[in-house]
Amino acid sequence: MSQLSNKIKSDFPIFEKSSLVYLDNAATTQKPQSVLDSINSSYTESNANVHRALYALGAKATEKYEGAREKISAFIGANSHKEIIFTSGATESLNLLAYSLGNDINPGDEILISEMEHHSNIIPWQQLAKRTGSRIQYIPITKDGELDLNHSDQLFNSNTKIVSITHISNVLGTVNNIKKISSLANQCGATFIVDGAQGAAHKKIDVKNLGCDFYAFSGHKMLGPTGSGVLWGKYELLEKMDPFMGGGEMIDKVTMTTATWNDTPYKFEAGTPNFIQAIGLGAAVDYLEAIGMNEITNHEEHLTKYCLHQLNKIKNIEIHGSAKSRIGVISFNIKDIHPHDLAQFLNEYNIAIRVGHHCAQPLLSKLNETATARLSTYLYNDEQDIDKLCQALNEIISHFK
Ligand code: ALA
Repeated sequence: MSQLSNKIKSDFPIFEKSSLVYLDNAATTQKPQSVLDSINSSYTESNANVHRALYALGAKATEKYEGAREKISAFIGANSHKEIIFTSGATESLNLLAYSLGNDINPGDEILISEMEHHSNIIPWQQLAKRTGSRIQYIPITKDGELDLNHSDQLFNSNTKIVSITHISNVLGTVNNIKKISSLANQCGATFIVDGAQGAAHKKIDVKNLGCDFYAFSGHKMLGPTGSGVLWGKYELLEKMDPFMGGGEMIDKVTMTTATWNDTPYKFEAGTPNFIQAIGLGAAVDYLEAIGMNEITNHEEHLTKYCLHQLNKIKNIEIHGSAKSRIGVISFNIKDIHPHDLAQFLNEYNIAIRVGHHCAQPLLSKLNETATARLSTYLYNDEQDIDKLCQALNEIISHFK
């Protein structure tokens, strides 16, 4: 299996230039040459504003942008490219939903999220609740870091209008049972949203099979450029929704006093879109598909097991979460060493991990921590990266004695 990462590392220029051990993939991923080439060629060969320019260069840019939409639609098993809205990332996708779905939310309605959400799947709902007089309810988590659905009949009730849950925790690595939540959300007639920021990069996504109404994800966490993201939604739901932002391109007709909207998905893409980034995300999808998402998942499963096994040998380590279904996002603390010190020492070894609250303060408070260290793997990581990390951790621990 480590054959995969050996072959793959050479596709990423950043690994050729240094001995970097990059284990902060839940924050953002490195870019393969093909994605960098895509960005470069878009700027040098097809840079003109999409959907507007009536000249060959504009047509070329539009063709590439819409080509990326088709690719992403196929990548996640959507019914049509019309179900793909390009956003700047999962955060914008979730804010769009909170705003546009919010028009149908009334006082007393409930929005159900979970204790393991990223702030981007908490704050937009808090703002919506404040705006509408609705309430947020939380699905608790178990000691293992899984969703506790023991009281689902109380949590999923006739007031529940929106259920918005992360596919994979960005702190614990837990992979949630989306199909099960989908069935609970369906039973109470709620709209079901999945925050796929950590999902689409690591798992083969089939939105129809998952059974959700909306799936939000970021391009930069799956080898694509920053500023690229997607909101997938069922076409009939998108059709009924009001636009999020107003501006150019999202309109049909505008008078001094009124406006009508462009077709779905364009009514959700106000202003000049990040089309070069979206095209770059299309190149990232090509790259991932050439390897195969199942191959990537298998590689990561192997590496996660190896990593947990090696980490568990380290003295005084506490690993947070032990979900049965998980990926290589592993949060931990080491007794008497502050995570921020740990990150700084690891930096001396050219090892990059993230420390802090990981934009999930409610979860950290549930864990009784203000900060953890977090490593997160991807397709280019290998056992040697994990060995280097563990060796460095052992040296740092002995230094602190
Ligand atoms: N959401 C990103 C993370 O978890 C930034 O690190």
